[in-house]
Formats: sequence, C-alpha cells, structure tokens
Amino acid sequence: MSVQTAKSPEQLRSYRWLGRNDLRSFGHRSRLRQFGYDRADWAGKPVIGIINTWSEINACHGHLRERAEDVKRGVYQAGGFPIELPAMSLAEPFVKPSTMLYRNFLAMECEELLRSHPIDGAVLMGGCDKTTPGLIMGAISMGIPAIYVPAGPMLRGNWRGHTLGSGSDAWKYWDEKRAGRLGDEEWNEIEGGISRSFGTCMVMGTAATMMAVAEALGLALPGASSIPAPDANHPRMCAAAGRRIVDMVWEDMTPAKILTPAAFDNAIRVHMALGGSTNAIIHVIAMARRAGIALDMQRFDAISRQVPVIANITPSGKYLMEDFFYAGGLRALMGQMTGLLDLSCRTVSGRTVGENLANAQVHLPDVIHSLKEPLYPEGATAVLTGNLAPRGCVMKPAAAEKRFLKHRGKALAFENYDEMARAVDRDDLDVTPDHVLVLKNGGPKGGPGMPEWGQLPIPKKLLKAGVRDMLRISDARMSGTSYGACILHVAPESFAGGPLALVQTGDEIEVDVAARSIRLHVGDEELSRRRAIWKSPPPRYPRGYGAMFSQHIGQADEGCDFDFLQGRAPIPEPEIY
Ligand code: FES
Repeated sequence: MSVQTAKSPEQLRSYRWLGRNDLRSFGHRSRLRQFGYDRADWAGKPVIGIINTWSEINACHGHLRERAEDVKRGVYQAGGFPIELPAMSLAEPFVKPSTMLYRNFLAMECEELLRSHPIDGAVLMGGCDKTTPGLIMGAISMGIPAIYVPAGPMLRGNWRGHTLGSGSDAWKYWDEKRAGRLGDEEWNEIEGGISRSFGTCMVMGTAATMMAVAEALGLALPGASSIPAPDANHPRMCAAAGRRIVDMVWEDMTPAKILTPAAFDNAIRVHMALGGSTNAIIHVIAMARRAGIALDMQRFDAISRQVPVIANITPSGKYLMEDFFYAGGLRALMGQMTGLLDLSCRTVSGRTVGENLANAQVHLPDVIHSLKEPLYPEGATAVLTGNLAPRGCVMKPAAAEKRFLKHRGKALAFENYDEMARAVDRDDLDVTPDHVLVLKNGGPKGGPGMPEWGQLPIPKKLLKAGVRDMLRISDARMSGTSYGACILHVAPESFAGGPLALVQTGDEIEVDVAARSIRLHVGDEELSRRRAIWKSPPPRYPRGYGAMFSQHIGQADEGCDFDFLQGRAPIPEPEIY
C-alpha cells in the first residue's frame, strides 16, 4: 500500500460489524453474501458508503446512478469495498414549498446513514442546490473521511441560435411574455431548449456556487466542480474520487483536518470572485458552524470588500458554466487569486490548495478575468444592517440597477406571497418605479423554509412601461439564478416579530449599499405602537416534520440549522448487539 496508514484493518469502523467472530458478525456477513459477495470482497478493506442523491425526478442528478458505478470502479481499484446508500434527492424545481425546508433533513439523513451502517469513508454525490450543503453538513457532523463528488452543470441551453441560461433566461423571457412581446410558440420552444442535458443549472446559481465552494473548501478533487455533467471527464473524476476515498480512510483524513477557519475564508473569497449566489451565505455559515467555526454574515461583507468579481458568468456576467470549464474552470479562477488565498490549506486530494493550483491556466480571458481587470471591483455580496434588519440582510449589488444602490422610496407592503401574487397583475395598482416592494412572512419559520420568493415580480403595469428592476425587500431567499435589486434574508424574520413585520404601505425606506445601511423611516413611538398590536401568526404546521422544523430552525444569519444539530458534542458509536 503506497499511502501512509494511520489505521490497521482491525481499527476500521466496519470491523465491528464484519470482522468479529460472533453471532452478530456472522449475521452481517451472511447478509452481504446474500448479494453474491464473498469475504475476499470486504475483509480487511475500508467500506465506502456512496451517498447518492439520484432520483427519477431530479434531472440535475439524472446521471448519478451511472456515476455511482464509476465511483465504485475507483473504490475497487484502490482496494476498498463500496456500498451505495440512496438519500433524499431534493430536486429544486419539484420539492415544495421549498427544498430549504429539507436541507437539514438531508443533513440528518446523511449523518445517520453513515453512523448506523458499517461505513469507514463516504463519497457524497450531489449538486442540485441544497444537496451540497445538506450532504456536507451531515458528513462534517459524522466526522469520518468524506469526499464530495459534484454532479456538475448541464450544457448550455439553446433556442433559435440564442444561448439560454437556467432560471435567468426563464425569468427574462417570462417578463417578455407578460409584457406581450413573446408568443406561446416561442415560449414552448424555450421550454424544450433551456435544459438539454443532465446536470445542475449552468449559471452561477446556488448549485454552481455551492459545488465551487465545496471544492474551494478542499472537499472535492481539484477542478471537479466545473466539469459539465455529460463530459467524459466527469466519470473519470468520479473514479478518481473512489480511489482517493480509500486512501483517505487509511490516512484518517477527516473533514475536521480540512475545514479550518482559513479554508472557510478561502471558500468565501472564491464565492465573491465568482459573483456567487446569496444562498451560499446561509449554507456556508451552517457548514462552518457544524465544523465548530463561529462564522457570521459580517465576514462575508468584509471579504466582499477585498475581492473583486472576476468570473464573467450569468447572472452577474454573460457566460455559462460550460464556458467556465473551457476557460480552465475553478482551478484557473483560483490560480488568478493565489495572493488572496491561504495556499497551505489541506484538501481531499492529499495535497495543499497551493499544490492543487500548480500550472493552473486561464484559456479564455473574457470568461475568467484577472484581478487587475475584474468584472466588478468589489465582491458579489453586501450585508446591510439597520433598524429594518438589526441582524442583517444581504444584497447582490452587481446584479442590481445602479440607481438602487442608494435609494429612498415608499413601501408597498404585502403580508404574504398570495396577497402579493394577486396584486402585481392589477392594472390599478398604486405603484411607481420608485416604490420599494416589501414581502413579509417568507423567512425560515414564516415561509416556512425560506422559499425563493425574494425576486418579487415587477408589477405588470410597470413591466408594460418598460420597468425591469425595482428595490425589493423580504425575509425570503432568492434563486441564485435571479437578478435585480433584491434585499433578502432580513433577520430576524417578520413571522418571528422582526421589524419587517411592522412595515406598512406608505412608510419610507432608505437603502445605502455603500454605507451598508437599511433604514425604515418611522419614529420609535409609532413602531412601539405597531409592535404592541402585532400578533404572532399561528404555527404553520400542526404536526409532523414541519412542526419540528418551525420549533427548531435558526434564523438566516445563523445558517438556518436546527438547534439540536449544531455543536460538536461527540455522539457514541452505535452498540452492536
Ligand atoms: Fe437543480 Fe438548479 S434545479 S441545480
């Protein structure tokens, strides 16, 4: 064996299930032999759990059933024994009311799948938005060696010679259709052309951001996150991950040895250089806190001021992930910013970040810019605070019309999504382009699950007049593929009695992104009067998972983890009776 071993076969976790000479182990072994395996298949070898989020309703992961076979090929090559364990798929387009309601569910499932089975190391297969943080949060808490295999982005969309980007172009052409400039036939063609291969959304949305963040943290093989799902490099990467996890078990290379504060700073810097999704802030905070690192939103703001956006990818730029891959992918981007990264951080490759970036090159300089000629001089995300969001809220200035970066306007406030949806198409709606649209009850408890309602629709009468952006404020999230002057994640949320709950139509709201401030211009006396008559809404769920969610979910600034999943208190290994 070429790797440095920190363990003997008897010290493998799986030995307790499979190696002993007792009746229980007999039972476990006989059940493996029921599959047609023999002792030579597992004896003395690391058992690798492949947590696979493949599902027939998640086309982002449509290839992961086959790719699990490539992972197994690698595991066998390196002398391990693979066992595939299916997990919840969290298909972003289908899961209602929001996949965010289930991210922590997947995290629990991943952690407990690994804990309850004879698993020595884990390969985490996902990519569709919440699957990446869900799998990683679970693996961090479980604490055994783990490697993340990103599903990879789908190919570019195509319609009548136009390139189409997931989400971003759907919103754009939907607005054209609502404004009467696009017919049913064209709309139908776009529906058939926007998603034309397996793989995740191919803009710099939450999926692409989180896959890149996972790689920048050191949890995926170098370059893995940029490979398009259908590319032959993808199965090769899967096999390499299978080989590597076996060595990681022998080396005892656990997430705790990789996930340091410096690794999280690296990941946030990469997130900013990519112009990444605002959703990543919640997920990165949650992952860091699982790793025992007290990360908060202010860290994102501080790093955002130091790191320019250099990836020219939709929605902040004009290219798509396929172009990013041809330009050199994440290694090339990180290679442009070595002066901003801690190159000594360890990664699952067994090498440091600096070693992983050796010879990284940019092949298409208009897709990956240099720090000297960035797309935007400052980073992707601004964290604002003020009397409307005492614990903060976030905005993506690069995706907003410049005039909204300093703006004061009258609020048009909606108590909930349904009220807003009914109002925005009314021709007699009393609204101007300078109004500030406010949506309440879209937060972690109020949504519930913080749905992606934060890109509030522009009222139809303004759309017809050519308005394409307005200042919008909510405690909801926004799809990473969205754009516009949207202020999100207001904490604390309105459902829990945050100041957003007290906003009324006609109130003046002022936002100053340069000063990082958001202010509701209503006197303290009036706010106290409104608070005295404000009533806490009834719980959304009378029973079940939703009721548990509402009781235990944290606010956006805390990463929206469950209170009972946080912390690093050791959980005993299961008894084997
Ligand atoms: Fe799966 Fe966007 S829908 S990544």
